[in-house]
Amino acid sequence: MQIEPRDISWQDAYKLLVGSVLPRPIAFVSTVDEEGRANLAPFSFFTCISANPMLICFAPMVRGSDGAKKDTLRNIEKTKEFIINIVSDDIISQVNECATEYSPGVDEFTIAGLGKEAGQKVKIPRVQECKIHLECKLHELHHYGSHPGSGSLVVGRVVLVSVADNLYEDGKINTSKLKPVGRLAGHAYTRANSDTFILTRSNISKEK
Ligand SMILES: Cc1cc2nc3c(=O)[nH]c(=O)nc-3n(C[C@H](O)[C@H](O)[C@H](O)COP(=O)(O)O)c2cc1C
Repeated sequence: MQIEPRDISWQDAYKLLVGSVLPRPIAFVSTVDEEGRANLAPFSFFTCISANPMLICFAPMVRGSDGAKKDTLRNIEKTKEFIINIVSDDIISQVNECATEYSPGVDEFTIAGLGKEAGQKVKIPRVQECKIHLECKLHELHHYGSHPGSGSLVVGRVVLVSVADNLYEDGKINTSKLKPVGRLAGHAYTRANSDTFILTRSNISKEK
């Protein structure tokens, strides 16, 4: 099967992407609007870019139902700040709940019953139940259209990493204790700890 994106709908192109690029990590992004009301939503088009400067990115798409900008993007455009709360398997149903299209101003922390604690370097609340928080300032923003199917790229500069003390060992994250979850296609998720294996290299470098 050979498929050219120009021959298919954006919905079919989306299905090809999420079925090919997986498992994807989940950025649980907290923001506030101009009135200081909190917003929380998951984004699995999410990855790291650079360690120095410490940059991450995620990609909110235009809302498929009505072509509107997602609240997360609108809030970041206004405040230039956000927090990536890292997702563990114990809160995955609350994460899923926060993906519902609530009206602007609805506080998903309250809806999902998640606790808030103050960010240290940004004026954004972070999710108390998460074991890692990446506090970010907006570094760059790119838009690739404003029609359904298109998306934007939010690049954040990490200004603070907070890690639960019991997870941080010898300068590394103990990922067995983190219990990360990845997103697959459709409504499927995977637990990253359920089938892990180690491959060593003879010329292993300092990158470990
Ligand atoms: C696990 C998960 C990952 C998601 N990843 C994305 C994504 O990468 N990009 C996107 O536009 N929407 C994604 N969504 C959908 C958004 O979370 C959803 O549109 C949400 O309502 C956006 O909220 P907001 O308007 O408050 O920003 C994802 C949903 C789930 C459950």
